[in-house]
Amino acid sequence: MSNIFPKVANKVPGWIMLGISLKVLAIVAAIYYYMTPSYTRAGYQPVQPVPFDHSLHVGQVGLDCRYCHSFVDRSEHSNVPSTNTCMNCHEVIQKDSPKLAPVWESHRSGEPIEWVKIHKTPDYVYFNHSVHVNRGISCVHCHGNVDEMEVVWHDKSLSMAFCLECHRNPEQFIRPVEDVYDLKWEPTQEWLETGAAEFVHNYKVLPPESCSGCHR
Ligand code: HEC
Ligand code: HEC
Ligand code: HEC
Ligand code: HEC
Ligand code: HEC
Repeated sequence: MSNIFPKVANKVPGWIMLGISLKVLAIVAAIYYYMTPSYTRAGYQPVQPVPFDHSLHVGQVGLDCRYCHSFVDRSEHSNVPSTNTCMNCHEVIQKDSPKLAPVWESHRSGEPIEWVKIHKTPDYVYFNHSVHVNRGISCVHCHGNVDEMEVVWHDKSLSMAFCLECHRNPEQFIRPVEDVYDLKWEPTQEWLETGAAEFVHNYKVLPPESCSGCHR
């Protein structure tokens, strides 16, 4: 009568403890994985071959993003500009500046400037720029205030959770299509109350939430 449970039962609490500590370990590992820069990449700010300053060219000169990223509303891929685009102005403006020497070098040799790529989705993810910007999703949601950056950095995580947060509730992020390139745009009260929801309804905005939507 002394032993109702078989002897092995003595080990059960140990197993439970082990199970709990493994779970804790998994959670810690997951947090570590998701928070480290290699996962989120947020903050990545490489040194570029030319000290090109968005805050000057966009914020002060007033250029539209599409002047240089001319495919952003037309294709999947948002290009970086070719040397010719810079030469439109710098053939004259500051033409003897040492900062522009690599631009001249590229102009003479025909070799493109080797800009360091900052944003990159993994190969197993499908992404398309034009679909987003033509549906009222601004650059600022995914890239931050590039118009104020002297040197561009990776501002948002662009993780799966980040994409899905908006895909589940696009009305919280959407804006009139004509304001997509104005990174300083603020919604009016009317837009927040009715405009955004009407836009989503009228244009049948329905971002994919299923796995195959983004993993094709
Ligand atoms: C005069 C040309 C020009 C204009 C205008 C311009 N850009 Fe750029 N942009 C560049 C160049 C050149 C690079 C590559 C060098 C760098 O990262 O600074 C770049 C890089 C970027 C990158 C990082 C690309 C990567 O490697 O992942 C983003 C994001 C970006 N621009 C967004 C914008 C947005 C948003 C606007 C409008 C508010 C804008 N740019 C306007 C020339 C321009
Ligand atoms: C629409 C005209 C325009 C275009 C296009 C343009 N820039 Fe500029 N850029 C300017 C102006 C204006 C200045 C400020 C000149 C000054 O400070 O006197 C400037 C300044 C610069 C400077 C700083 C020069 C210095 O010595 O202070 C660099 C570097 C530069 N641009 C690089 C580029 C590159 C690279 C491109 C192409 C991706 C480009 N710019 C395209 C108008 C332009
Ligand atoms: C919904 C999110 C989202 C929006 C909105 C968005 N981008 Fe991007 N952008 C990305 C992602 C994700 C990448 C990486 C894509 C890849 O790996 O091909 C990227 C890459 C880029 C690049 C780098 C391209 C290269 O090959 O070096 C540039 C430039 C850029 N975006 C500019 C813009 C501009 C300008 C706008 C607004 C007109 C904009 N993006 C709007 C998510 C976004
Ligand atoms: C701020 C809001 C927002 C963010 C962030 C966002 N999306 Fe979207 N996405 C949209 C909207 C709006 C649409 C358009 C839906 C429509 O037209 O019905 C869309 C459509 C898509 C589509 C469908 C494209 C097609 O050709 O059918 C894919 C794929 C997609 N997004 C992938 C992504 C990925 C990957 C990310 C993260 C890197 C992302 N999105 C981040 C709002 C967003
Ligand atoms: C809105 C677009 C979108 C949808 C929908 C989506 N994913 Fe993802 N997924 C992404 C992006 C973006 C990444 C890459 C994150 C990164 O850059 O690290 C990713 C990464 C992953 C990874 C790699 C591991 C990780 O977390 O980095 C797995 C596994 C995955 N997704 C599975 C799924 C499954 C299963 C579904 C359906 C339930 C799904 N995804 C739906 C955008 C999406």
